[in-house]
Amino acid sequence: MNNRFAIVLAAGKGTRMQSKLYKVLHKVCDRTMVELVLDSIQNLNMQRVITVVGCGAEKVKEAVGNRSEFVLQEKQLGTAHAVKVVKEKLVDKEGTTIIMYGDTPLIRAETVDNMLTHHENSEAKATVLTAFADNPFAYGRIIRDNDNKFLKIVEEKDATEDEKKIKEINSGIYCFDNKLLFDLIGKVQNDNKQQEYYLPDVLTLIREAGEKIETYLCEDFDETFGVNDRVSLSYAENVMRDRINTLHMLQGVTLVDPANTYIAPNVKIGKDTTIYPNVTIKSNTIIGEDCKIKPNTYIENSIIGDGVKILQSTITDSIVGDNSFVGPYAHLRNNTKLSDEVRIGNFVELKNTTYDKGSKTAHLSYLGDATVGSNTNIGCGTITVNYDGQNKYNTTIGNDTFIGCNSNLIAPLKIGNGVVVAAGTTVTDDVEDDSLVIARVKQENKEGYAKKLPAGRKL
Ligand code: UD1
Ligand code: MG
Repeated sequence: MNNRFAIVLAAGKGTRMQSKLYKVLHKVCDRTMVELVLDSIQNLNMQRVITVVGCGAEKVKEAVGNRSEFVLQEKQLGTAHAVKVVKEKLVDKEGTTIIMYGDTPLIRAETVDNMLTHHENSEAKATVLTAFADNPFAYGRIIRDNDNKFLKIVEEKDATEDEKKIKEINSGIYCFDNKLLFDLIGKVQNDNKQQEYYLPDVLTLIREAGEKIETYLCEDFDETFGVNDRVSLSYAENVMRDRINTLHMLQGVTLVDPANTYIAPNVKIGKDTTIYPNVTIKSNTIIGEDCKIKPNTYIENSIIGDGVKILQSTITDSIVGDNSFVGPYAHLRNNTKLSDEVRIGNFVELKNTTYDKGSKTAHLSYLGDATVGSNTNIGCGTITVNYDGQNKYNTTIGNDTFIGCNSNLIAPLKIGNGVVVAAGTTVTDDVEDDSLVIARVKQENKEGYAKKLPAGRKL
């Protein structure tokens, strides 16, 4: 099989974004643009993937991680210059090099795959992916000769009025014969309006050398859409959202209002789950079958089992077991793990807390760093007092235990199985199995005393 290499250009600052964040790190549906570009070549048998970094190099490297090698382009002198800095790594290799820009987040893997196959079968020395744009402004235009053969690419800023009318655009995705690319890349000049070294100019050099150049048309312009400012970022977000949501619906998920449902690309959702409006499901989340995710819920990096119902709640970095019920207004975070058939109700916050099967906390409680056994009921207003201002401490509660309302559980603390804690108790010491624990001031009723209080005075 032919050798394949990939170069992704991600060194630019992205001035038009007007942002402190470097352009390729802006997210489309919760995934950075540079990662989305890399996703598109993930399964295309690349021997090497090299990302060119410059502005914000460390941050871009961090986002991309170990799926790519990196080369530093110290000064951003243009897209051809960015490719030139990779020369040392690839110059002696035979094969096909695909070049992509890190600001084209909507490109699909199938398109790149088809283009690569077309390039390799046609034995061209270069293939450029083009598309027809209703509004081609800001893109390089494809100039053809009288026989409709590729001649060159002209950038918006260098184009004549006639050239500006051309609707066929350069996507910025190309396949090259690797050797020829690096033979010619150093010969590209910067005699243009922006005084930049333009990568498309290498195509002119290839043509002038008498070598074959192909164009490969991408039927869907959106895939070639380049993000250069926040307006185009929001367009990309809309297209991607529509794409993700359509796929979920086709796979058996009901989205009540897909235009207002925000799901990241790598989220998995089981059949017959219904997602209501204004739900956000961020990256690395798996949701099971037959769930109901009610309006205004936010879920991130979490696993939700089958048959779960969630009402207006926030769940991050947590697990919810099958047939559990969460909300409304619950907050599960930081490695909280609910087993099956657990019920977490209104205004309950759980942090790094585990619940075994069938346990409940129906209202107004905070449990942090706690372990709760099975079939235990935690009454309204229970607080684990897990923090002394410096350190965090654990609370363990057994099976079939009943914690009465408004209890303070002062950690570190162990409460056994079958325990009953009376309402209003502040538990400071460990409690053995099957004990009743009560710690509160004894009630005293003073008959007729209320009438003796001065008028308007209340205790
Ligand atoms: C570029 C193309 C244009 C094409 C469009 C498609 C050139 C000269 N123009 O224009 O023909 O229609 O993309 O979206 O190539 N970069 C570097 N180093 C540099 C300069 C840029 O790494 O020195 C990176 C940027 O981070 C970006 C990509 O290359 O990811 C493209 O640069 P950008 O400035 O966005 O080019 P466009 O003006 O969009
Ligand atoms: Mg661009």
